[in-house]
Amino acid sequence: MLKAFLKYRKSAVNAHGIHSPFVFEFYNEVLTKSKYVDDSKILNLRKQLSKDTNLIEITDLGAGSRKSTANKRKVADLVRHAGVSRKYGRLLTQIIRHYNIDNCLEMGTSMGIGTAYLSIDAKKTVTIEGCPNTYKQATQNVQLLNLNGLSMLNAEFSEGLKQAYEIESNYGLVYIDGNHQYQATLDYFNWIIDRANNDTFLIFDDINWSEGMRQAWDEIVSSEKINVSIELFRMGIVLKRKEQTKQHFILKF
Ligand SMILES: C[S@@+](CC[C@H](N)C(=O)[O-])C[C@H]1O[C@@H](n2cnc3c(N)ncnc32)[C@H](O)[C@@H]1O
Repeated sequence: MLKAFLKYRKSAVNAHGIHSPFVFEFYNEVLTKSKYVDDSKILNLRKQLSKDTNLIEITDLGAGSRKSTANKRKVADLVRHAGVSRKYGRLLTQIIRHYNIDNCLEMGTSMGIGTAYLSIDAKKTVTIEGCPNTYKQATQNVQLLNLNGLSMLNAEFSEGLKQAYEIESNYGLVYIDGNHQYQATLDYFNWIIDRANNDTFLIFDDINWSEGMRQAWDEIVSSEKINVSIELFRMGIVLKRKEQTKQHFILKF
C-alpha cells in the first residue's frame, strides 16, 4: 500500500498538468471544491454510530475485511472501517452536485454512510447489500437521516444489479464498493459499462486495496469501452465520453 501511495504521489498532477477541458473542470470544480460540502448531518450520524457497541453477525459475500476476520462485528467498527471516509464521501456528493446527476447506484451499503453522501443531492439512490443483518442495521441508520428517493436492496450483487436496473435504467453515477476481488470487479465493470450512458461516472473504491484490485483497475483503464479514466489514490473513476481521445489522468487529491 505504501509503495502504491508513493507511486501515486510521484505521478499525480494538479490543474497545470491537465490538458483535457473536461478533466480540468473536474479538478477545479469537483476535486478542489468537495471540501465545502456540508455533511454535518452525516457527521452526527457517524458520531452516534461510532458509540454503538451492538454486534452484527456478518454474512461475508465478498473479499472480506482486512481489519477483522470475525463474523460478529460492532456497528462502531463497521462505521469506522467499512464506511467511506469524509474526504471521499464529500467527493461523491460534489460529483453529483456539479454534474446535476439525478440517479445513483451503490454496490455495498454497509452502515449506509456512502449511501447518505450519495443521497444528499441525488433524486434517486439505489443501494445493494448482500448481508441480511448489515442490511437490517443500515435501514435503521438511514432512517435517522430521513433520506428521500432511496431504495435499499438486500441481495447478492449479481442479482441485486438486475433488480437495480429494473428500478432505474439510467444511472449518472455507479459507486462500486464491495466484493473487492479481481474477477468480480472486472465482471461488474463490464456489466455496468454496457448499460451506462456516455457520461455515467463509474467509481471504484479501494483500487489499491490488494494486488487483485490494482490489476483489475489497470485492466479497466486500458479497456476500449472507456475513454476517460481518473485515478485518485483511493478511488478510480471511468467514463465512456466517446467524443474524447482515450487518456488516463492521475490527479492530486
Ligand atoms: C466496504 S463496504 C461498503 C461501504 C459503503 N459503501 C460506505 O461507503 O459506507 C462493502 C459492503 O459490500 C457488501 N458485499 C460484499 N460483497 C457482496 C456481494 N457479493 N453481494 C452483496 N453485497 C456484498 C458487504 O457485506 C459490505 O457491507
